[in-house]
Amino acid sequence: MTVDKIQNPDIIYTLIAFVIIFAASIKTTKSMEKIAVIGSGTMGNGIAHIFAQNGRKVALIDVSEDVLMKAIATITKNLDRQIKKEQIDEETKMRTITSISTFTDMGDAVKDADLVIEAATEKLALKLDIFRQLDQKCPPSTILASNTSSISITKIASVTKRPEKVIGMHFMNPVPVMKLVEIIRGYSTSDTVTRIIMDISKEIGKVPVEVNDYPGFVSNRILMPMINEAIYTLFEGVAGVDEIDTVMKLGMAHPMGPLQLADFIGLDVCLSILHVLHDGFGNPKYAPCPLLVNMVEAGHLGIKSGTGFYDWSQGTKELIIAPRFSDSQYELN
Ligand SMILES: NC(=O)c1ccc[n+]([C@@H]2O[C@H](COP(=O)([O-])OP(=O)(O)OC[C@H]3O[C@@H](n4cnc5c(N)ncnc54)[C@H](O)[C@@H]3O)[C@@H](O)[C@H]2O)c1
Repeated sequence: MTVDKIQNPDIIYTLIAFVIIFAASIKTTKSMEKIAVIGSGTMGNGIAHIFAQNGRKVALIDVSEDVLMKAIATITKNLDRQIKKEQIDEETKMRTITSISTFTDMGDAVKDADLVIEAATEKLALKLDIFRQLDQKCPPSTILASNTSSISITKIASVTKRPEKVIGMHFMNPVPVMKLVEIIRGYSTSDTVTRIIMDISKEIGKVPVEVNDYPGFVSNRILMPMINEAIYTLFEGVAGVDEIDTVMKLGMAHPMGPLQLADFIGLDVCLSILHVLHDGFGNPKYAPCPLLVNMVEAGHLGIKSGTGFYDWSQGTKELIIAPRFSDSQYELN
């Protein structure tokens, strides 16, 4: 059927509208080519790595050249590991590394970004300051995402003039390996922005899951009470560290027990997320176990401090229970 044979102009308008909508939808996915990542630590370097590996130009921003050089060294090491596992070839490694530029000046890095993903230290005041600056320095069309594990996306969005373009992209650690991205819709995040972020997450090989913005989102709302309950179980002398983790590993097919996982995440991080849940819902079921509070105050934070529920002073290969928990008060009566 040619256009000159169509009698009804409504059909022509409908066809034109369809073509315009289709073209616009192509533009939205194609236009997400320049990505800026703020913070090049554990999460930021992994996020930069996967976007660059999937054909995006990445600007990686941190507070000093030294930190950025360490991040590039980590990305290189992780790419070498992928080559060893025959997941990528040497050419992909080179293309990935050369797609990442490093910056200590946020303004230069984000001035033409299509998407900015903030993965800086988990501090509310810092994140609000970064988003205030991003709102001024980015083009009006730029989507602003945060990788926060616990801070409200709605609160972060409230310091910008574009709350409909602010969204959570909660990647899991280690980013190049873990498939999930929890996509958090703030109170004002638009449908279009959510769709673009879901689409780009799939394009970089991840599985995005959309959730609403309430304390702990879904992942930490479920994970942290489980970890807290495991700590209470130890605190009340129901069982020891090894018994608790073994029950959950062998009985529930978890790859590691909740106490070991808490040591990996960092006990200070677990405590601060429990505070967010406790304050956000006002429900005593989220109150942190006093043993967790004591351990954080004593500086026993898990792997990062060398001791937690396990002793990590010899490295992470072997599971050695921390001396504090090998004594009898924590064993089954
Ligand atoms: N580590 C995890 O397992 C994990 C998992 C999911 C989400 N997160 C979240 O990801 C974010 C980053 O966590 P991380 O573990 O990578 O922390 P990290 O401490 O390893 O890295 C944070 C980086 O941010 C940089 N930074 C601080 N202020 C900055 C600024 N003004 N501008 C640019 N860079 C700045 C720091 O120098 C550091 O390199 C946090 O919001 C955290 O809650 C962490």
